[in-house]
Amino acid sequence: MSAVDEKGIAVFKRLIRYSRPYWWRIVIAAIGSLGVGGMDGAFAYLVEPVLRKIFSGKDTGIFVLLPFGIITLFALRGLCRYTNDYFMRSAGQLAVQDVRNDLYESNMRLGLGYFSRHETGTLMSRVLSDVSLMQEGVGSVITGLFRDGISALSLLCVIFYRDWRLALISFIVIPLTVLPAQEIGKRIKRLARQGQEKMGDLANILQETFSGIKVIKAFGLEQREIDRFRKRNLEFYFFTRKNIKYEGLSTPIMEFITSFGIAGVIYVGGSNVMHGTRSASEFFSFITAMVLVFNPIKKLLQTYNNMQRSIGAAERVFEVMDEKPEIVDAPDARDLGRARGEVEFRDVHFKYDNDYVLQGVNLVAKRGEVIALVGPSGGGKTTLVSLITRFYDPTQGGVLMDGADIRQRTVKNLLEQIALVDQETILFNDTIANNIRYGKIDATDAEVEAAARAAFAHDFILELPEGYETNIGDRGVRLSGGQRQRLCIARAILKDAPILILDEATSALDTESEQMVQQALNNLMHNRTTFVIAHRLSTITHADRIVVLEKGMVVEMGNHQALLDNDGLYSRLHGMQFKA
Ligand SMILES: Nc1ncnc2c1ncn2[C@@H]1O[C@H](COP(=O)(O)OP(=O)(O)O)[C@@H](O)[C@H]1O
Ligand SMILES: [Mg+2]
Repeated sequence: MSAVDEKGIAVFKRLIRYSRPYWWRIVIAAIGSLGVGGMDGAFAYLVEPVLRKIFSGKDTGIFVLLPFGIITLFALRGLCRYTNDYFMRSAGQLAVQDVRNDLYESNMRLGLGYFSRHETGTLMSRVLSDVSLMQEGVGSVITGLFRDGISALSLLCVIFYRDWRLALISFIVIPLTVLPAQEIGKRIKRLARQGQEKMGDLANILQETFSGIKVIKAFGLEQREIDRFRKRNLEFYFFTRKNIKYEGLSTPIMEFITSFGIAGVIYVGGSNVMHGTRSASEFFSFITAMVLVFNPIKKLLQTYNNMQRSIGAAERVFEVMDEKPEIVDAPDARDLGRARGEVEFRDVHFKYDNDYVLQGVNLVAKRGEVIALVGPSGGGKTTLVSLITRFYDPTQGGVLMDGADIRQRTVKNLLEQIALVDQETILFNDTIANNIRYGKIDATDAEVEAAARAAFAHDFILELPEGYETNIGDRGVRLSGGQRQRLCIARAILKDAPILILDEATSALDTESEQMVQQALNNLMHNRTTFVIAHRLSTITHADRIVVLEKGMVVEMGNHQALLDNDGLYSRLHGMQFKA
């Protein structure tokens, strides 16, 4: 076997490991398959004595017993089969459920970098459709190996017991089937991988268009999106069709090759019977076993194909699971308790990919100070503040909190020191109260209400149908932008962190709601070290220090008046907005 197959086997072993906790289900299922397989053998075996008695014409009692015997045999076989199916498939389902949970967990632990490198739809399709594909594979493989394997084995015993020479004639051709079977399996595996990628493309389109439906409708671009989807869907079909082609091929090829064996057996065995050197009943028993054995062998071959397909899917899934989170606790990281709130950037350089986005930023924020970050879009403001939360780590230099590198804290402890409010007002499909509680999971109702009051959200919350218990529904469609933003601010107030980051928190709002939100923000900023990124410079004139970032470098720093006097970039930006 080639190296590719060895890797496949390793992947498959890992997959099978997930079924270990459910071993007793598998044992019961295996007992069931022993029953099924054993009875297949028994049936073929019994053809001989039964026929012998019938042909001898003496034992008429057998005609009374035979029908009952047959019915009992099939009833037992059905029971065994059901037991086998139920326990095997439930074990497979449970195992795959664990895979899916692990995959989701791995996803959740990966850093923002990973999410910006992968499209949401692709990630979704891995959790949903790749895992389902694995499930079909694992289920059918375990079932196949046990049930069809045992059936095939017991029938083979009968075949060889009846006449090993005839058996050899019929099986001399079997080795010939190995090569095509392997080749087909390999292709199926590759196609499965590619097919799943196509499925990811589809999921991406769905994700994009369903969440951007408003824009699509506004521009009347439904037909364009429909066509785009059709095209991708057709591509997916082409992959599936190739898959169907290979899978459909495997049975006919197999049957064709084995037909040579059957032909040989009929020729040799049949002529033996005619010449009287072999008993007819023995020959029938042999033929019965041989006809019966083809079904399980065919299924075993399908099992092999299924296994290849689930390996293809599993590879993708395990790839994600093996992805190392970039942002992890340093070995000596500790819980340093609540920070006083000093933040320092010391010679910070940072790049996402190739180009430096921040170059040598030095900046100190003392406890309780308000630092405003301004400058042209793309200047690196958002990037700079996302280093405080360790969404990314600096490429060079460091970020300090209370004089110690933030990497000395555990990520959990670090994030407890920071509240973030940005332009994206993410609310979850839950009650208003619980959405605010994201800031502090164990907050009491009174604390939630106090935070809502401070965020100027209490009044509009009371006007909602069920007040604080109102469910926001998907993406909070019934709330205005300003209301959503005030809920996010309430969340941040409730968190009561010493350090606050406001990234364009008001830029999506109209002037009226901006005033409300600004007041709420003032409440929030009170007594906290605050980094505020603002599009409208009017909102940051009172900042202790204004930092002007351009092309990843600090080009100016000072208070409002000093910067105006400086007559640099800030003064120009200010002049532009003032005129407008
Ligand atoms: N996730 C990312 N991956 C790669 N490049 C990014 C990413 N986010 C931002 N950038 C780039 O970094 C630069 C600074 O962006 P950003 O910090 O968002 O600027 P600002 O907030 O000042 O508008 C831009 O050139 C932007 O294209
Ligand atoms: Mg930004």
